[in-house]
Amino acid sequence: MINVAIIIGSTRPGRNGEAVARWVHDLAATRDDAQFELVDLKDFGLPHLDEAMPPAMGHYDLPHTRKWADKISSFDAYVFVTPEYNHSTSGALKNAIDFLYAEWHNKAAGFVGYGSLGGARAVEHLRLIMGELKVAGVSSQVALSLATDFENFSVLKPAAHQERAVSAMLDEVVAWGGALKALRDGTTPARP
Ligand SMILES: Cc1cc2nc3c(=O)[nH]c(=O)nc-3n(C[C@H](O)[C@H](O)[C@H](O)COP(=O)(O)O)c2cc1C
Repeated sequence: MINVAIIIGSTRPGRNGEAVARWVHDLAATRDDAQFELVDLKDFGLPHLDEAMPPAMGHYDLPHTRKWADKISSFDAYVFVTPEYNHSTSGALKNAIDFLYAEWHNKAAGFVGYGSLGGARAVEHLRLIMGELKVAGVSSQVALSLATDFENFSVLKPAAHQERAVSAMLDEVVAWGGALKALRDGTTPARP
């Protein structure tokens, strides 16, 4: 069985991201085809990237980097729960992604965006970043509207169809996460 992280991509006080991620995790926890864990960036207290060596060198000096690397490397796939800030993802999530390199490679990802247009522009930016890190982003995604899936833009009340969107996204994340595990384990030959 694969392990999937549901990553809360916002850190600000009063964030909507935590409620969104907990809702996704509650739905995921009803499945029996993978194990799901909430990962909160706030628990890691990462500063702006402060490692001397580029992450691609695979040499981490600092305890906070090693703790974050250990956590991220323990998963086969990720669900990024991202806000939309100025048509992109949050600086906090981008920074946390930038801290690491090989830990992300050959894994799958799904995306849950929220914003005035369902966080669509934030997710599009994340997809580009994931491509550079050899993360396979699944097609199905969840797009929560601040206007129709929240009350007063701040209390999560997702429309009924959004549960089906989560389920479709997780189906793909679990399938691709499992397939790529075989690649990482060396049971499927890596082809250029
Ligand atoms: C700095 C900032 C920039 C934002 N820019 C956008 C934006 O470009 N598009 C959008 O749909 N919402 C935008 N919003 C609204 C956020 O999507 C909304 O506040 C959301 O709840 C933020 O996620 P969070 O509560 O988890 O931090 C912005 C909010 C902030 C704080």
